[in-house]
Amino acid sequence: MHKIRAAITGVQGYVPDYILTNKELETMVDTTDEWITSRTGIRERRILKGKDQGTSVMGIEAVKGLLKKTNTDPKEIDLLICATVTPDMQFPATANIIADAVGAINAFNYDINAACSGFIYSLVTASKFIESGAYKKVIVVGADKMSSIIDYTDRATCIIFGDGAGAVLLEPNTDGYGIMDAILKSDGSGAQYLHQKAGGSRRPASYDTVYRREHFVYQEGQAVFKFAVTNMAEVSAEVMERNHLKPQDIAWLVPHQANKRIIEATAQRMQLPEEKVMLNIHKYGNTTSGTIPLCLWEYESKLKRGDNLILSAFGGGFTWGAVYVRWAYDGLK
Ligand code: UT7
Repeated sequence: MHKIRAAITGVQGYVPDYILTNKELETMVDTTDEWITSRTGIRERRILKGKDQGTSVMGIEAVKGLLKKTNTDPKEIDLLICATVTPDMQFPATANIIADAVGAINAFNYDINAACSGFIYSLVTASKFIESGAYKKVIVVGADKMSSIIDYTDRATCIIFGDGAGAVLLEPNTDGYGIMDAILKSDGSGAQYLHQKAGGSRRPASYDTVYRREHFVYQEGQAVFKFAVTNMAEVSAEVMERNHLKPQDIAWLVPHQANKRIIEATAQRMQLPEEKVMLNIHKYGNTTSGTIPLCLWEYESKLKRGDNLILSAFGGGFTWGAVYVRWAYDGLK
């Protein structure tokens, strides 16, 4: 018998129906389908439309689907963590709103804000509750309504982001499957390159902040790109080396979907062929906390028990990291 590890025992995603194509963006800002596709790999993204529709709407759908497919009673959930930078409101936590809506009445819930690394930060945090032996069923949701903080007059950012959510169930495993290792990193000096200027306690919302369009994502794309390429590739290689994993031992790289060129650089550093790289950026763009669980959801049927996965992300903060997962079940349950 191995030590207690946290195994992913189910995954479910949700994306809203509305498809914002590159063609439609051509009518909104000075851009072209060709520029967006060649520079980012994105062809379309989903947008959550409708009045009073927050991030929780997508998180609730993902968690409801997850509970159903894993045949889990919501009352058995001990903890629900939601990774998001677009909470429904400043407080309460979106995790609480989701747990209430799905009937997870015995869970305690909180949000984690680590931008595009939010899902892996939350996954690692959740795994520690399971490894301690104190908790048996934990849900991690990655959900963001990026369209709520995107300036659709700024061609440098509005082409990248989309809305979506994914959720996983974690349960104890003593057969050697689950979250095996992780390296998580942060560098607060990177905040200058990627942030939202107003809406927090430093610059609360005012007429002035709205007028100056300060409630939207501010990104210096090229600077972020350089840090992302180097750090996501390095940390992925580091987690492989630390666990004596050779490229042939890896079944899948599950990268954060921010830019196809960043993903390719990471795969190259890990010496992995493109067939081993999960990719859905062309359909959903960058859904921030949603990218990695949405990939797992879409590729679930191809996954086999014992597959070695490296989950890898880089995002605002800066935050980045890589997680080594030994997958616990075959294909669709
Ligand atoms: O997930 C969180 C972390 N975020 C990321 O990882 C994002 C990292 N950054 C990127 O993915 C890329 O930097 C972008 C996709 C944001 C931009 O691509 P780039 O190849 O770095 O372009 P750039 O910012 O260097 O701009 C090159 C040119 C500029 O024109 P000039 O100055 O050369 O005349 C831009 O004004 O492309 C122009 N440009 C555009 N042109 C057409 C910028 N956005 C667009 C656009 N359509 N949408």
